[in-house]
Order: sequence, then structure tokens, then C-alpha cells
Amino acid sequence: MTDCQGAESPMELYEKLTAQGDEVRALKTAKAEKAEVDAAVQLLLKLKVDYKKVTGQDYKAGCPPSENSVIPDNGPAADGADDEDTVDPWNVSTTNAKGVDYDKLIVRFGSSKVDQELVDRIEKVSGQRPHHFLRRGIFFSHRDMHQVLDAYEKQKSFYLYTGRGPSSEAMHVGHLIPFIFTKWLQDVFDIPLVIQLTDDEKYLWKDLTLEECHRFAVENAKDIIACGFDVNKTFIFSDLGYMGACPEFYRNVVKVQKHVTFNQVKGIFGFTDSDCIGKISFPAIQAAPSFSNSFPQIFGSRKDIQCLIPCAIDQDPYFRMTRDVAPRIGYPKPALLHSTFFPALQGAQTKMSASDANSSIFLTDTPKQIKNKINKHAFSGGKDTVEEHRKYGGNPDVDVSFMYLTFFLEDDEQLDKIKQDYASGALLTGELKKILIETLQPMIAKHQERRKQVTDEMVQQFMTPRPLNFNL
Ligand code: TYM
Repeated sequence: MTDCQGAESPMELYEKLTAQGDEVRALKTAKAEKAEVDAAVQLLLKLKVDYKKVTGQDYKAGCPPSENSVIPDNGPAADGADDEDTVDPWNVSTTNAKGVDYDKLIVRFGSSKVDQELVDRIEKVSGQRPHHFLRRGIFFSHRDMHQVLDAYEKQKSFYLYTGRGPSSEAMHVGHLIPFIFTKWLQDVFDIPLVIQLTDDEKYLWKDLTLEECHRFAVENAKDIIACGFDVNKTFIFSDLGYMGACPEFYRNVVKVQKHVTFNQVKGIFGFTDSDCIGKISFPAIQAAPSFSNSFPQIFGSRKDIQCLIPCAIDQDPYFRMTRDVAPRIGYPKPALLHSTFFPALQGAQTKMSASDANSSIFLTDTPKQIKNKINKHAFSGGKDTVEEHRKYGGNPDVDVSFMYLTFFLEDDEQLDKIKQDYASGALLTGELKKILIETLQPMIAKHQERRKQVTDEMVQQFMTPRPLNFNL
């Protein structure tokens, strides 16, 4: 099975290279024809060049690539082809109006493509029709999902871990993507879930007080609860609250800290000498929930329960680091499912971000604000005049309203028809925006309604360390 059409992961290349080295040796031992040996050597050299391109390192027999040996996370690819794409936990940008080149990102990050085979497998194992985020390639990349499913089929279950950095009171629609999908995974696999609110992270990165960050964590917890998580299977915690209360969690933080050097975090996250030491050690805190014994109230002292992390791909650097450390401290590597980015209103060159109010539709927006923002700011792939649009059609691949519908319009047939009509010119930009407005307004109103029902007591219940209800 290939993970990414036309592109190989560091591990696949490493395995190919090892096999080719064996082939060359076998040919030489068998005193094969010179031409045959030369051809095999040529292929070996080419594979070595490819390997260096993908990993940034020279091939060494017997030394498989580590997760962090992929080309610098935020830096340009070795071929310079996608040097305009930046993807890290703080920045997402590309010059391509269609958005980030996700296939190239898979190669750069060394993850695997969510292909049809995996989607079919999830359907078979869960017994449920795959969520439209899977059917439409919104969750497009993974690490070790086949291993998770193999184990699940053998009655060995897993738990989910996701999170939010509470930088403000209001979350935006893009933040919902991992939570909606996590809720679906929780429902279909019937498994426990832990949600980390990194109020400490936001204190370290933003100009906010500890009290503000913690308050935002509690406010954001209400939006997360409003997504419908099962209180009997979900533990939400704020780092500022839980770290001090749970020695087992802190022990894992320290274990990770001991196994990652300053050089490594500089390479992975781009930290500099003038970043405060809190930032430098923070990745260990985002790593710790990947290990089941960080939650003794849920998993006891078991450290072998596999973790699956759904998130957008901007968070992957944290988990590349975690996966690199895990076997060295005796824990299983967490598996991941990565989503694409819900784009900014102005276009897919960047993701929707809470720090730019005009780029975002917030979960607190009124129907009128939603309508105005979409009509005023949503980048259009339509033509300049109605006549031209009717004649040449619009371009759904760069049209933000159409992209938003791929996330939130559940009916596949309707979405397909909208795409065809827009591309043919039968559907105008104003009409497309109207469909989006009519999709988002009730969706957000319903969310607001559910959020209103979330009481302080409910938040308290979700955030109390306690046993959860599950069979592993
Ligand atoms: P944060 O608060 O930046 O984002 C929360 C979650 O939302 C995803 N996300 C998006 N997804 C789609 N489109 C977008 N435009 C978009 N913007 C953000 C993020 O990938 C994330 O999944 N450090 C983390 C908090 C965290 C965490 C975790 C996240 C702690 N542990 C484990 C995921 C998994 C943060 O600041 O996320």
C-alpha cells in the first residue's frame, strides 16, 4: 500500500534503499554482468539522492530515519518547489489560492495519506458510514491508523486526545473541525476522550494574564461541551488546573523534557535564544496527554493504551516530537489523524485565525454578522461580470464560500450539483454565498443554543478528574 500517490515517506524510501543495497551486494557476489551491476548501483545512488531530499540526511544502513529527520518543519522543501507554504502551530501561509499543497506536506512531514483503502477500513471496522470529513479528504493525513484499527479488531481499544489553546473567549468555526470529528470518532468507536486546554501555553505566548487564560479555558470548554461530547466518556482539563493536581501527569512531562534537547526543539519549532524558557519546555506539556498513565483516574497505571489524536496538521510538530520520544521512555507512539485548514474568509492562502477578526466567523456571531462577513469578505472564484460568469463559469477550487460548504454541507449530491452549476456559470457568486449563509446561520444558532444550556456545574463535571465509563 502506498500512502501518498507518487511520493514516498522517509521510512518507505529507507526500506527501498536497504533492499536495493542488498540487491547490489547479491549481484556482485554472484559476479553478475557489469551492465546489470551498474544499473543496480545507479538506482541505489538515485534512491540515496531522493532520501536526502526527503529527510535532509544521508542514508546510513541500519539507521532508520527518525520522525524528526524530515525536512525542517516550517522551512522550504529541498526541491524549492513549495517554499511558499508555511505550516506550523503559529503560521499557515501559501501563495496558492487553492490553499496549502497537502500532498507535498505529507511528504515533508513524513505522514501518510488517508486513502480510499483507509476510509473503507474505518467503515468496515466501525460499522458506520465514514464521516463526510473523511469521505471528502478533509481529514487527509494520518500516522499509524492501520495499527490502531488492527488492534481494535483484536478487541484492543484506544483513547482519543485533542485540545485547544484558549487565546480568547470566542472560538471560530475552524476550531470546530477537530471537535466535530472527534465527537464522531467517540460515538462510532465508543471510547474515552481527553481534551487539553493549554491555558499555560497561551499565557506564555500572548500578552494575557494567567487569570485571563484560565477564564478563556473555562469559556472555551463550554463551546467544546456544546459539540455534544458524552460526559461519561470525556475528561476536559486545563493545564493550569490539572498539572499541579496530578503527579503522574507531571512525571510524564519531566520524562519528555529529559529526552528532548534545546537543539531539537529549535529545529522542530523554530525557537530562538531569546524565547522564554517556558516556551522551550512547553511542548513536553502538550506531549504528556498522549500517554495513558498521565490519567490515573481513568486508566490506572496502564501505560500501554494507544492514543489517537485528531487535530489540524498545524499541531503535527508537537506530535512528531512526542512520537520520537515515546519509545525511548517506554510508551506507545500516539497515532494521528490530521485535517486540512478551514480557510480565512479572504482566501485559502491562510487559515481562519482568531487573531484576525475579519478573517473569521466566530461561534458568537449573530446571523446578521455572518451574512455581512460572507457577503463582504468571502473571496470569490466568480468572474467580474454576470455576463462573463454565465459564459465562462466560476472557479470553485479557489472560492471560499464553496470551500466552506465542503466542510459543512452534508449532502454529497447537493454539494456536487452546486460545484457543477458554479463551474458552468449557472450559479452566480451571490447565489452561492446565499446558500452558504443559509447553511451557517442555523448551524451557528444551534451551537449557541446548545452552549446556553451548558451550565457551570456541567463544566465542573467535565473538568473533574474521575473514572470514565468504557471497556478497553
Ligand atoms: P488551537 O486552539 O490553535 O486550535 C484548536 C484545534 O483547532 C485546530 N484548528 C483548525 N482546524 C481547522 N481549520 C482551522 N482554521 C483551524 N485553526 C485551528 C487546531 O489544529 C487544533 O486541533 N496547542 C493547541 C492546543 C492543543 C491541542 C492538543 C490541539 C493542546 N493539545 C492536542 C490538538 C491536539 C492549540 O493552540 O490549538
